[in-house]
Amino acid sequence: MKKLKIADGIYMLTMNVEDVLFEGIWEIANGVTLNSYIVQGDKTAIIDGVIGWDGVPETLYKNLEEIGVDPKSIDYLIVNHMEPDHSGWISNFRKIKDDFTIICTDKAAKMVASFYGEDKIRVVKEGDTLDLGKGKILSFHPVPNVHWPDTMYTFEKDTKTLFSCDMFGAFGRMGDHCFDDELTPDEVEFFEIEGIRYYSNVMATFTPSVKKAIEKAKTLEVKTIAPGHGPVYRKNPGKIMDDYSRFAQYAEGAGKNEITILWGSMYGMTEKAVKYAESILKREGVKYNKLKMPLESESEMVATILRSAGIIVAAPTYEYKLFPPVATALNEVGRKKITGKAAFRFGSYGWSGGAEKELAEILERNKMNWDFIESVEFEGAPREEDLKRVEAGVLALIEKMKSKVVA
Ligand code: FEO
Repeated sequence: MKKLKIADGIYMLTMNVEDVLFEGIWEIANGVTLNSYIVQGDKTAIIDGVIGWDGVPETLYKNLEEIGVDPKSIDYLIVNHMEPDHSGWISNFRKIKDDFTIICTDKAAKMVASFYGEDKIRVVKEGDTLDLGKGKILSFHPVPNVHWPDTMYTFEKDTKTLFSCDMFGAFGRMGDHCFDDELTPDEVEFFEIEGIRYYSNVMATFTPSVKKAIEKAKTLEVKTIAPGHGPVYRKNPGKIMDDYSRFAQYAEGAGKNEITILWGSMYGMTEKAVKYAESILKREGVKYNKLKMPLESESEMVATILRSAGIIVAAPTYEYKLFPPVATALNEVGRKKITGKAAFRFGSYGWSGGAEKELAEILERNKMNWDFIESVEFEGAPREEDLKRVEAGVLALIEKMKSKVVA
């Protein structure tokens, strides 16, 4: 766990967590940070905790003492969001101190009670404030459904620091550099990619609410954004707001100037056409990614689809339906409400077709509204004329995605 000073009376405690499935689902290849913040006036508040899963609260208490904060002196626990990666330490804290007040929204209060049995709670609404003394005044601003309904921002008015919890967060472990002005260009790129992974895995389903939360942040004259995961933005908080606006666009059909091939193949017939499509993409100088299902992790799959302006779905028919690992992947993308992508499908069939029908059902059921080039299906191995149709489809996709590219 690291301790950093953000401003006089405001500290950050951060720890890297690795080898966990985030939310019990997402395989986060590069880990994630959990950030907690302390605001000290005459009274002391802690905003979100930094243990959860199998964390050790004593580490938190020791680090608090090292920045001169006796854990027993904490008066307020600000629960911006009840998900246990931020709140999982509350029951343990109760064992060392009895007289603290939890501050959260009404929706968080119900969960704080049901998960931890807590009842000494002050429920706050938009614009409510808490004066800690010594000029430290916190205000509270609900941002529901980013990604849980209970979420709120806490804003420290003196330093104009926005404690945004999950909003403006990113996956990815942090090394020595925790502030935006310290990050090397490689680290900036790393956190952008990890931010996209985080957005796709955690936030994408709630893109309309995320957009509202971005607008709310813009009304607060923020100087520093201090999220619950990832770097703190003190030099240029507008950068992460712009990034999040772009990620929201990705979820609604835009993307980087790249194509992702989401593919699977039973006996290599569809794979022959995948290789041919790759040769076309190389010839045309188009950047592309390949996701072989079911080998790819769900986290990486959803993230890569989210950021791509064009998608090639390459999958055969299997038992009258779409090749199951690819169907499962597309269903997950649909559940994440990743809509409006430019796309093209091809695939082989043997004794029966049926993949197209299931693809249409997945798109319809999830209201994905993807803009597909006419599919190419071939019986058994692709022949010369089939490959020519694949080439035409790939070229049409390259053309179609141009209007969707956002840098
Ligand atoms: Fe970082 Fe939604 O918890």
